[in-house]
Amino acid sequence: MQLEDVQHVTVLGAGNMGHGIAEVAALAGYGVSLRDIEEELVQDGYDQIEWSLGKLAEKDRIGEDEAEAALDRIEPQVDLEDSLADADVVIEVVPEKMAIKKDVYGEVVEYAPEEAVFVTNTSSLSITEISEVTDRPERFCGMHFFNPPVRMDLVEVISGKHTSEETLELIEGFAESMGKTPVRVRKDSPGFIVNRILVPLMNEAAWIVDSGDATIETVDSTTKFDMGLPMGSFELADQVGIDVGYHVLQYMHEVLGEAYRPCPLLVEKVESEELGKKTGSGFYDYE
Ligand code: CAA
Repeated sequence: MQLEDVQHVTVLGAGNMGHGIAEVAALAGYGVSLRDIEEELVQDGYDQIEWSLGKLAEKDRIGEDEAEAALDRIEPQVDLEDSLADADVVIEVVPEKMAIKKDVYGEVVEYAPEEAVFVTNTSSLSITEISEVTDRPERFCGMHFFNPPVRMDLVEVISGKHTSEETLELIEGFAESMGKTPVRVRKDSPGFIVNRILVPLMNEAAWIVDSGDATIETVDSTTKFDMGLPMGSFELADQVGIDVGYHVLQYMHEVLGEAYRPCPLLVEKVESEELGKKTGSGFYDYE
């Protein structure tokens, strides 16, 4: 498949990242199937896209007509077979559990067009392992977007053990066609580049507060105003989802060792389902 053959994108999973990626693809002019397992989940993702497009128009980042046209290009779907009928690229954005990702791709191979290229937006898991449940591991790679996808330019393009050079180049071109800056990651080690750096930063911030050395507010104002990062560490954890960071850490802890042990402060938030902006509260309140 060549870049000019890519017309339609199927995004599997309408959560925080899934709907954001669907929005980015639609804004770039692609036809998009946005699929999730329940009507309510897809509708929720679609509503979020509508909100986001409205916000971008309100801030003059895009025109009203552009927002409307992008929304028109997105078809919310629940039936997997229907959602894959026209897929040139399949982007998997389901929960960060290896078993779920494998199940999903195990089913996708039954319905996806033969030439379609498969990618996963996993933030840390092994690309090679997921690719091996498909019939096309050479046309499978990681395509990792950042939250919020519509505002973050970076996309990590990660090679699995079997990924072909053509696939990596196609997906890099596809990312560029959506106005993104692809960065190639040569090996799928846990956390790739960004999360390998960013998630320990969130964890370390949590350890500082957990040990009583400073408050959340002090750590955040230091990272934001004195270190010059765009958000405080706790604000960022709330933005990406405390559960997302936690799952990445758990995996890094398992594979890379003790230095990555998740701080109890993160564990508590995950257990009490205070996951950040998406649940209305995390380290801060949003309601
Ligand atoms: N769509 C449209 N608008 C959005 C939005 C979205 N998805 N999300 C937020 N906004 C809006 C906000 O509601 C806000 O609007 P109001 O001013 O009306 O309240 C506005 O955007 C804020 O945008 P600004 O440009 O005014 O503010 P900013 O300059 O602070 O930029 C930002 C916002 C781009 C998110 C910036 O804070 C930033 O870069 N933050 C860091 C984000 C980051 O590092 N993300 C990566 C996380 S790691 C990850 O995602 C990987 C993983 O696997 C865990």
